[in-house]
Amino acid sequence: MTDKQQQLDHLNAVMAQLCPCALRDTATQPVPGSGNPDADIMFIGEAPGKKEDEQGVPFVGAAGKFLSEMFASINLSRDDIYITNVVKYRPPNNRDPHPDEVAACWPWLQEQIKIIQPAIIVPLGRHALERFVPGRKISEDHGKAFRREIDGCGTFVFYALYHPAAALYNGSLRETLMHDFARIPKLMKKIHAQQQKN
Ligand code: URA
Repeated sequence: MTDKQQQLDHLNAVMAQLCPCALRDTATQPVPGSGNPDADIMFIGEAPGKKEDEQGVPFVGAAGKFLSEMFASINLSRDDIYITNVVKYRPPNNRDPHPDEVAACWPWLQEQIKIIQPAIIVPLGRHALERFVPGRKISEDHGKAFRREIDGCGTFVFYALYHPAAALYNGSLRETLMHDFARIPKLMKKIHAQQQKN
């Protein structure tokens, strides 16, 4: 087991006890995140849905299946990346998370980012983008790489994408998402080259 895996397991166990999110009362269990803690790329969705709540694993429903197909299209598997959500508990009837729920789960996400130290953070959809860059529009910012400081975590490269659930049944969003996705390997190469120079 890697050092990061141990740190993440410990964090997730502690936060499952201590997270003050009110959604704990209605959710079956927390959905902390899954994948490779040594990953270069971290995908961050909005909040768990029904299937995720049942299994305790993010993106295992229809949107997750679509996401896995897109990973495969760029030769990545779920073991190559880390995936989590802004909010760690399912909101009732999959409603949008409330600001106090996002705030309550924020320290958990901050600590995950600090442990994983990804080369790229990929917010999935407008809610995840809003948490990192308030006031920006996913329709304008998808598929663009930019750097941002995250309070208490340092500066990271962001590359926002449309949420796979939004794109699943919308032909033009689907095409845009797949097009943005296809650019990830080139972006990773560029970032690795920059890291080697520094
Ligand atoms: N949508 C999300 O944002 N996260 C999940 O885990 C599943 C669906």
